[in-house]
Amino acid sequence: MTTPDYLFASTQAKPEYERLQLIEAVFDGQSQRRLLQTGLTGGWSCLEVGAGAGSITRWLAAIAGDSGQVTALDRDTRFLKGALPGSVQVIEGDICTEELPAASFDLIHARFVLIHIPTVEVALEQMVRLLKSGGWLVLEEPDFLAARPAGMTADLGGSITPETLTTAMTRVNQAILQTFVDRGIDPAVSLQLPQRLETLGLRVQTVDNHAPLVRGNSAMAQIMARSARQLATLYTATGKASPLDVEHYCQYAQNSHTWAIYHGIVGIQAQAHL
Ligand SMILES: C[S@@+](CC[C@H](N)C(=O)[O-])C[C@H]1O[C@@H](n2cnc3c(N)ncnc32)[C@H](O)[C@@H]1O
Repeated sequence: MTTPDYLFASTQAKPEYERLQLIEAVFDGQSQRRLLQTGLTGGWSCLEVGAGAGSITRWLAAIAGDSGQVTALDRDTRFLKGALPGSVQVIEGDICTEELPAASFDLIHARFVLIHIPTVEVALEQMVRLLKSGGWLVLEEPDFLAARPAGMTADLGGSITPETLTTAMTRVNQAILQTFVDRGIDPAVSLQLPQRLETLGLRVQTVDNHAPLVRGNSAMAQIMARSARQLATLYTATGKASPLDVEHYCQYAQNSHTWAIYHGIVGIQAQAHL
């Protein structure tokens, strides 16, 4: 079965590339720490699923070295072309259907990818099938149920009241949840991952769940404002938020006097049995 269109598939290249680079700037440090904790070293064979703009793939290739091998798989490789060392194998394909040899990777990583896949069980089965004995699966996925406004300086200046912006924030958060639900996706699928991986026979080694409370105009808030601008039509089509709500959500996210949780992040390190 093919996964339905990726939410951001029809967005314009430049803003989408910039959004992916912001994601990398915010989350790469934590991802790299999680990946290194597996024992990642030279000679490993690694698969980056949903490689996006490629920074983690480049980093994996530098560590795996000449004796290792890194594969970057993405349904949309337009931001990978020319961005990766020649040693990296780039595959344009869907993790649910791509035919890769079983038991071929020491490490598989996916960040913010499963949240876009309704048949998450198929994607997970495939990743588990691709792991070598003792190989590691590192997943990092959002929890959008954690999103909420958390207050602001009373006087923001201008004519829009704090209540208007907060209401818009709450409405757009509902629209984000509904956008996923309408596509058959659980917006908090990340919370199911530990039990799903155990059911598939992996040993879950660590799980953490982090919901950053961040200032407006921070990089994380900017990512969400950019997503909202790119997906405004989808959000308003849910009936949960109006175009003006989306505009106010973006104002909230871009104003450094506001605070909010935009989503949680669940990180998991799991290992195939030896
Ligand atoms: C939000 S971006 C995250 C990119 C990158 N993992 C990061 O965190 O910087 C999601 C990526 O997953 C890719 N993707 C979505 N569904 C996919 C699927 N079924 N198979 C492979 N890649 C997929 C998208 O094309 C996109 O590049």
